[in-house]
Amino acid sequence: MRHLPASAGDPNLLVGFETSDDAGVYRLTDDLALVQTVDYFTPVVDDPFAFGQIAAANALSDIYAMGALPLTAMNIIGFPVGRLDLGVMAEILRGGAEKVKEAGAVLVGGHSLDDPEPKYGLSVTGVVKPGKFLTNSSAKPGDRLILTKPLGVGMITTAIKQEAATEEIIAEVTAIMSTLNKTAAEAMLEVGVNACTDITGFGLLGHTSEMARGSGVGMRIAAGRVPVIDGTREFAEKRIVPGGTRSNLKYLLDERYVLFADELSREERLILCDAITSGGLLISVPEERAGRLLELLHSRGVKFASEIGEVTSDHPGKIAVTP
Ligand code: CO
Ligand code: CO
Ligand code: CO
Repeated sequence: MRHLPASAGDPNLLVGFETSDDAGVYRLTDDLALVQTVDYFTPVVDDPFAFGQIAAANALSDIYAMGALPLTAMNIIGFPVGRLDLGVMAEILRGGAEKVKEAGAVLVGGHSLDDPEPKYGLSVTGVVKPGKFLTNSSAKPGDRLILTKPLGVGMITTAIKQEAATEEIIAEVTAIMSTLNKTAAEAMLEVGVNACTDITGFGLLGHTSEMARGSGVGMRIAAGRVPVIDGTREFAEKRIVPGGTRSNLKYLLDERYVLFADELSREERLILCDAITSGGLLISVPEERAGRLLELLHSRGVKFASEIGEVTSDHPGKIAVTP
């Protein structure tokens, strides 16, 4: 995208592609702005209905991360017609439609194509009041960082592909990935926060790094406070680690965006960079509201929500990770 001419210049474009934010925002009137995003990928679990749910929850998440309300969604599906039973495609679409409904949005259509490898996702359109949306570039020194879902999804879905995961872990990771970030977003809007993004392919540290650089602040993360799905550490030790996770860690180290305490093991560092599908929200909340936000999240069933660190004025653009 950096080779494209900048989209800036249109005064109604409030968030374009230059800021690596979760979705684009375009003002229609003084009271109303459109929020637009698209996301799709190849199956991460074997069950087609669950895959549909996960892909839809992941696509909707970028609307929630902007503090917006999803209104409409369109299916994007690639499917190997003639090689896989069309019933599988119907199940993927049924899973997606169920999540769109749970989000309170409306499915309005879509597009399909014959594709050697199945792919599914959504293009989602939401609305927000101009000036009321959240970005990943407005974290303030002194803020507390709250993460709403646990890490480990990339390693566990890799283990599923290698047939190394138990039924129990598969059920757990499927439930986590298919959970909408709707409840978490509602709580954060109620409390009032400074910045937000969702954790996906660049991992916790990759997305935190974008927030730190975008906001011109430093971050401190306590690795021991970060929620991790049970079983993830064993996969990391057995080197069941996706390529994306390894390249996330390498990139952050090469660019010197992350400073790890010496005590942190290679496995712990990899888990913090794990490339995730349908991860949680990373919320930067003023210190005095952090307790209230955690209380709301826990009382509404966002059980993994944890305070994992804070925003600092020192080492701007960098993350210090302590044990
Ligand atoms: Co995102
Ligand atoms: Co996205
Ligand atoms: Co079409």
